[in-house]
Amino acid sequence: MITLKVNGRDHRIEADPDTPLLYVLREELQLNAAKFGCGLGQCGSCTVIVDGKPVLSCVTPLMLLEGKQVTTLEGLGTIEHPAPIQRAFMDEQAAQCGYCIPGMMMRAQALLQDNSRPTDAQIRAALEPNLCRCGTHMRILRAVHRAAALMQRADASTTEGGAR
Ligand code: FES
Repeated sequence: MITLKVNGRDHRIEADPDTPLLYVLREELQLNAAKFGCGLGQCGSCTVIVDGKPVLSCVTPLMLLEGKQVTTLEGLGTIEHPAPIQRAFMDEQAAQCGYCIPGMMMRAQALLQDNSRPTDAQIRAALEPNLCRCGTHMRILRAVHRAAALMQRADASTTEGGAR
């Protein structure tokens, strides 16, 4: 038995400690944004955030996650209230087949939490582990810049609101 904190909620999970996080997210918790692509840590479609860092959930066993904070795409925003990264990917129409996009968004989100104004080169380097076979890379790049701008605008309005 392990207590897994996902998107701010504790879940008691009965599973072998070697079970990959991806399986628990999708099969036990019905959190299906993270995708099974290769299952070998080579494509990035299963990326989630653990304690602020992007992690490949297909090769991350449950036993490493006790006491850690797991965030999936479902924890960022909803269809009605998308997070800036989700809004930006929609605005830039950055998905073609869309299979890689949840993982791309999670890796981009982790980047933006660390670096609110990344350069093109920094975005390319950060997203390198995540593969997209449709070739929407230029749109993805624009979406990450757009998300950075949206986040800065949201921060500025919070600060202004607080200063009033
Ligand atoms: Fe995890 Fe491909 S499914 S890296």
